[in-house]
Parts: sequence; structure tokens; C-alpha cells
Amino acid sequence: MQIIRELGALRAAVREFRDAGKRIALVPTMGALHAGHLALVEEGLRRADAVVTSIFVNPKQFAPHEDLELYPRRERADAQLLEKAGCAILWAPPVEEMYPDGFATTVSVSGVSEVLDGAARPGHFDGVATVVLKLFNQVAPDVAMFGEKDWQQLAVVRRMAADLDLELDIVGVPTVRDDQGLALSSRNAYLTEEELLRARALPRALGEAAAAIGRGEAVAGALAAAVVRLTEAGFDPIDYVSLRDAETLVPAETIGERPARLLAAARMGGARLIDNLPVTISPSNDK
Ligand code: PAJ
Repeated sequence: MQIIRELGALRAAVREFRDAGKRIALVPTMGALHAGHLALVEEGLRRADAVVTSIFVNPKQFAPHEDLELYPRRERADAQLLEKAGCAILWAPPVEEMYPDGFATTVSVSGVSEVLDGAARPGHFDGVATVVLKLFNQVAPDVAMFGEKDWQQLAVVRRMAADLDLELDIVGVPTVRDDQGLALSSRNAYLTEEELLRARALPRALGEAAAAIGRGEAVAGALAAAVVRLTEAGFDPIDYVSLRDAETLVPAETIGERPARLLAAARMGGARLIDNLPVTISPSNDK
């Protein structure tokens, strides 16, 4: 695996693959890799001949009070994992390479960026969209992989790719969870053992609410029950537990024709955790 930190060298390496007729997949990450990230690399290898993984802790998507300095960085271990997974190129530019002096452009996707996490973290998705579009332009991949764990991020990237006529395919990869259902996240490293145990309430509460709504129970009641469950488990604050149109993220008061998604964000100790599940009407109610 080549480890590349300079844009000219990246473009030359990618050109070699392309000249050899190879399809290229991009997996954007911020490092501290776990099995969730590696599932994206594996899916990339199924859909392309060569995978480029980027590791860049993007300062533009962190607010001043957020965990940019604290964010786990372990490139050596990450590189070993990527090499073993069959990744061809690790693209790990320094901040000055990504944002040279004078950098002045922001990509902003309205609507889908402004709700939920966008409301809780103003400017976050502008930072994401800006760096993701740069990564797309740097690597020029045929396909790019994103985790469903960050459902809103996936929706923002899909909206941007459609609006800007980007030619690549955006692929969403199902959330990888631990044996207790907790979504793997680099930020789980901020949790104590005890908090990790209590954090399992998040996927459980979402699962119960999704099942209740799928059975035809009232949405408001199911969401309120989930909030109670999370509060009892020690989540504080609970930023949102909400049923949304899966693509536009506008509130879905009921389950209609269009796919719906149940999303939540809440703080446990030192970590703000997010999770989401699809909501489908169970067959007995689907009449
Ligand atoms: P990061 O949090 O490192 O995540 C990189 C990718 O891995 C994202 O697409 C994310 O959804 C996916 N991922 C994380 N945990 C996962 C899990 N448990 N199961 C499946 N996929 C998972 O998301 C970012 O970085 C950044 O915002 C980025 C897109 C790189 C832009 O800076």
C-alpha cells in the first residue's frame, strides 16, 4: 500500500491505476479505524479494482468547542489495518495540503444540512461537504463509500452529488455494530466501561420505537418512550429522537409511501453518540 501526503503524487498514483483500466473506489475517513470503516473498504473492493482510503481529521467540520484536538489519531495502526484489508493507497494529507493559505471556498447544501445534527452542530455539514467534494476532485473515484451510521452525512453527500452533477456512484454501507448492538464509532473511545454498557440503550430504544411505529403505534408515543429509555440510561442531553423522510430528512409524522428513518443523537459522558434505523411497516399492517 502506498502512503501519500502530497496531491501531485496522489494524482500520479491514481492515474496509473486508471491508465491500467482499473475502477477506483474512495473511502473517506478521519482515521482511528475500526471494523465499520473496514466494511467500507471491503465494499469498495467488491465494487472497484483499487481502493483509496483517505485519513484526514478535517478541522472545518469541528466547531471551536468540539473535540478536534482530542480526536484519536493513530495512523500507524490504521495503515496496518488498511494494508491487511487490501487498500491500494492511503491518502493522508497534512492540513496545509488540504487547505493552503488563502483557502476561501465553502460548499453548503441547504435543507438537508440544516436539521438534526446540522441544527445541533451549525456549520458541521458545510465542513463535511467542502472536504468531501475536495476528496472527490482529488481522487476522481468511480464510486465512493459512506456508512449508514452517519445517515444525515450520507443524505448531504447524495444531495450534493446530484445537485453538482457528480459522475460517481455514492454507496451507503450498513452500520457495523458490536455484539450488543452499539454502533462502532471512533468516539466510543471516550466512554468508560460503565458508560459503554449504558450506551447500549441507544440502539435498543431505537429498535423498540422502530418496531412500535412499524406495528402502527402512534409516532409521538413511540418517540417519547425512546426518550424516557435514554434518560433512564443516563443520556444527557438528548439532542433529538426523530422520525424523518429518509432522503430529505423532513419530519415524517406518519409512515407513508416514502422510506422513513428514525434518527437519534444524545450525549453519554464524554461522547455525543448518534444512531439511526429504517422504519418499515410490518406486513400485518401493510394493507
Ligand atoms: P469518520 O467518522 O472517520 O467515518 C468515515 C466513514 O466511516 C463514514 O462514511 C462513516 O459513516 C463510516 N462509519 C463510521 N462508523 C461506522 C459503522 N459503525 N458502520 C459503518 N460505517 C461506519 O464520517 C467521517 O469520518 C467524516 O465526516 C468524513 C466523511 C471523512 C469527512 O471528513
